[in-house]
Amino acid sequence: MLNTAAENKLKLIDPYNRFLNYLRISIIDRCNLKCMYCVPDGKIPKLSHLEILSYEELLRIITVGAQLGISKVRITGGEPLVRKNVFPFLEKITAIKALSDVSLTTNGVLLIDSVDALRSAGIKRINVSLDTLDRAKYKTVTGRDHFDRVWAGILAAQKAGFYPIKLNMVVLSGINEDEFLDFARLSFTYPFHIRFIEYMPIGNPRMKFNRDILAPEIKRRLEAIGELIPAEKEDLSGPAERYRFKGAMGEIGFIRPISRHFCGSCNRLRLTASGQIRTCLLSDDQVDLKGPMRKGCSDNELAEILIKSIRHKPSEHHLLADQEPKVSSEMSAIGG
Ligand code: 5AD
Repeated sequence: MLNTAAENKLKLIDPYNRFLNYLRISIIDRCNLKCMYCVPDGKIPKLSHLEILSYEELLRIITVGAQLGISKVRITGGEPLVRKNVFPFLEKITAIKALSDVSLTTNGVLLIDSVDALRSAGIKRINVSLDTLDRAKYKTVTGRDHFDRVWAGILAAQKAGFYPIKLNMVVLSGINEDEFLDFARLSFTYPFHIRFIEYMPIGNPRMKFNRDILAPEIKRRLEAIGELIPAEKEDLSGPAERYRFKGAMGEIGFIRPISRHFCGSCNRLRLTASGQIRTCLLSDDQVDLKGPMRKGCSDNELAEILIKSIRHKPSEHHLLADQEPKVSSEMSAIGG
C-alpha cells in the first residue's frame, strides 16, 4: 500500500492535463510470427528470461499503477500467449478490483488452444492482429502458414463468448489494399469490430511501400458496399473512429495515427518487456522501472518514478505519412 502522501499526490496526470489511466504491457518480446512490418529485417532481438520482467514484478507495477488511477490494462507482446504460465498471471490481474478492463492483443496463432483458459482467467475481450484473409498472403506477410488456425481461433473465441473481438488490420499499400472490402464484409456476417490501422513508420528501417493509404481513402472505398453510419461513443471505444453498415452485426473502425492523431486525448502509458515505461509509442524516450525494483525500491518510490515518468509525455507526435521513422525500437519490443 502506498503511504498517504503518495496517495494524495495520486493520479497520473501529465503536464497537458491528460489523465493516464491506461497501461499497455508487453510481457514478452518474442513472437511466433515474423511480420514484415514489425520485424522488417526478419530478426527479433530476443531478451533473455532474466531481462524481461517476472510476473511478480509486472503484478507489482500494475498494483502500484492501479493505486495511481490506472483502470485499464492491455497485455501485448511480442506475442503474449507464447509466454509460459500466462493464464495464472492474467487471472491475478483480472482479480485486481481497481481495474475495470483487462484485455489482450494476440496474433491468434495459439488462440484455438487458449480460449477456455483465457475465459477462466477472466479475460472478456480480445484484439487479434490479422492483416490478410488470404492464406498464401498470410504466409508472405507473417512468414508462417498459420492463417487457418488463426481463423479457427477467432471463431472459437466468438463461440466462447468473447465480445467484442476486434480484428486489427494494418493497412499495407500494395499488399492488403485489395482486401478492404472483404474485411469490411465480415462485419455483416460476424459481430467483429474490423479496425483499419494506418501504418506507422516504426522500427529501423521503415518498410518501403509505394505510398501510405490513409483512413479517408479507405472509408471512400468501403462506401462501395453501403453507407457507413457513425457508431455511438462507448466508454471503452478508445481512439478508433467507429462506423457500422446498416444491418451489420459488427463495426468498422479507423485508427488514424497519421491522418488525425489522437494525442490530445491519449491516456496511455506503455511498459516494455524489459521494464521501461514509455509515455509515447512514437518516441524512444523511456524510464527504467526494472533497475530500481531490482535494487529494492519501495512501492512509494516506484510510484514516484511512475509519476515523474509522465512529466515528459510529449503533447503530440509529429509523424506524417511517408516519413522515415522517429522511433528506432521495433514494435515487437513495445507491443503496439
Ligand atoms: N503501424 C501500425 N500498426 C501496427 N501494429 C504493429 N505495427 C504497426 C505499425 N508499424 C499493430 C498490430 C497490432 C496493434 C497493436 O498494432 O497489428 O494489432
